[in-house]
Amino acid sequence: MEAYSSINSWGSWALLGLYLLFTLSASSFVVEAEDHYHDFVIQAKPVKRLCKTHNIITVNGQFPGPTLEARNGDTLVINVVNRANYNITIHWHGIRQMRTAWADGPEFVTQCPIRPGGSYTYRFTVEGQEGTLWWHAHSSWLRATVYGALIIYPKQNTSYPFTQPKREAPIILGEWWDANPIDVVNEATRTGAAPNISDAYTINGQPGDLYNCSSSETVIIPVDSGETNLIRVINAALNNELFFSIAGHPMTVVGADAAYLKPFTTSVIMLGPGQTTDVLITANQPPGRYYIASRAYFSAQPAPFDNTTTTAILEYKSAPCPAKKPTTPTFPSLPAFNDTGAATAFTTSLRSLSAVDIPKNIDVDLFFTVGLGLFDCPSGQTCGGPNGKRFTASMNNISFVLPRNYSILQAHHHGVNSVFTTDFPAAPPVQFDYTANNVSQALWQPVPGTKLFKLKYGSAVQIVLQDTSIVTPENHPIHIHGYDFYIIAEGSGNFNRQRDTAKFNLVDPPMRNTVAVPVNGWAVIRFIADNPGIWLMHCHLDVHITWGLAMAFLVENGVGELQALEPPPEDLPLC
Ligand code: C2O
Repeated sequence: MEAYSSINSWGSWALLGLYLLFTLSASSFVVEAEDHYHDFVIQAKPVKRLCKTHNIITVNGQFPGPTLEARNGDTLVINVVNRANYNITIHWHGIRQMRTAWADGPEFVTQCPIRPGGSYTYRFTVEGQEGTLWWHAHSSWLRATVYGALIIYPKQNTSYPFTQPKREAPIILGEWWDANPIDVVNEATRTGAAPNISDAYTINGQPGDLYNCSSSETVIIPVDSGETNLIRVINAALNNELFFSIAGHPMTVVGADAAYLKPFTTSVIMLGPGQTTDVLITANQPPGRYYIASRAYFSAQPAPFDNTTTTAILEYKSAPCPAKKPTTPTFPSLPAFNDTGAATAFTTSLRSLSAVDIPKNIDVDLFFTVGLGLFDCPSGQTCGGPNGKRFTASMNNISFVLPRNYSILQAHHHGVNSVFTTDFPAAPPVQFDYTANNVSQALWQPVPGTKLFKLKYGSAVQIVLQDTSIVTPENHPIHIHGYDFYIIAEGSGNFNRQRDTAKFNLVDPPMRNTVAVPVNGWAVIRFIADNPGIWLMHCHLDVHITWGLAMAFLVENGVGELQALEPPPEDLPLC
């Protein structure tokens, strides 16, 4: 009785507190968090790379696009005006978008495209995320040139959980075609063959010293002796995982995908497209110039890939002038392109900064295969893929098909039931030796469909992501929209529930929005379905999402307004 009444009186104090908080918050929020307003004008712009000038699609004429900066807790408002001749949408990669799925951006998933001449205002709040994210177009292959950094600083009056850096610099790794990337993907879709490989990788839009006509534009990252600086590395490449290294300067990894990590030092990092890594470097070498370099980690079986190397230069401001120009900077040692050991050594070193609250009891236990496939060539046509077929890709044997005249979220919101179904399977329809090198050809052809998996609000979800060797095994960077997840284990071969459960890290696993699922291996992730809406999950190699390596979750509303998707903005583009 006694206890009961005291709980009751605490309850009313709490209510009074809440009441005061809400009535006072109108003024206190103005001090605490900020609104950042930006105009993004999508427009074509001539840009010279690799000795040739191309008209590329840009934001505000910039390439890479503008860097957005905010603090954890701030609201961003970005008015996108489309003055280009392509449909476009913008995705804020890694932003949780709590209850604001309408602002997430994937074309035909959460919105219809912004048509040429149209506009749409994205409005969202950063909640509980600090570090480096980025934004990119999410329509066809426009993200080849439409991307930029999104930097989230700690809340007002708080600081990094590591040495305050003297300077900070984003390094965005990109991929460049000496052609219009939209033509490249359209040609591949027409023939069924793999798209042409890129002609260069770039650092902040520049290929660097090792390519033709690029040397004088090589990006310089300035440092001064004795400084410790923060480098925010983002992999914005379309189709390649990348190794990254800086000559003479070991990197202390302190964060990834806008979550802090237990610091550790390494000479090389690996990023899948979509992933970011924050590193500290200390300028303690003889003043001079040092190469920053990046090249592919390529795990597929013999297949053509862009085997070039992009560079920038770390330059000591105090370097004596003669040392700056004529001397060749020191080059870092990068792993061989197929060094899976180096990739795995890096990804398995990541740990959350401290012990985390990870879901222990699983409500929804999922097993998804990820991999390639081949469709028979439609009769009367000739196809350019292996065995005269068309390339495809799938999860659990479903090759994802985007709707064409509705977005899935709009269909869901309006109760239109002809756009998608919710029968995505919790496990592959057939179990087989997923990583064998002779998987029966009968299993190579998936089924096309727009299938979603429904999740109850608040359910604890585990997904085993299993690579298959169909056509070729490959490391797949799997990204989930609207969620971060814990990567509790990864390994090679087939996931084995008896053996591999023992490897689960339920103490301090890293939290990310994109997991590089090992080639011919598996990764296990966990998250709580606490964000209602429609959330795309896909391979962030654009060539694979083009082929259908995707699915989507439908996360239902919970109880009350704070667990429900917000109503759609009035200017949401219609199809
Ligand atoms: Cu960074 Cu669906 O994407």
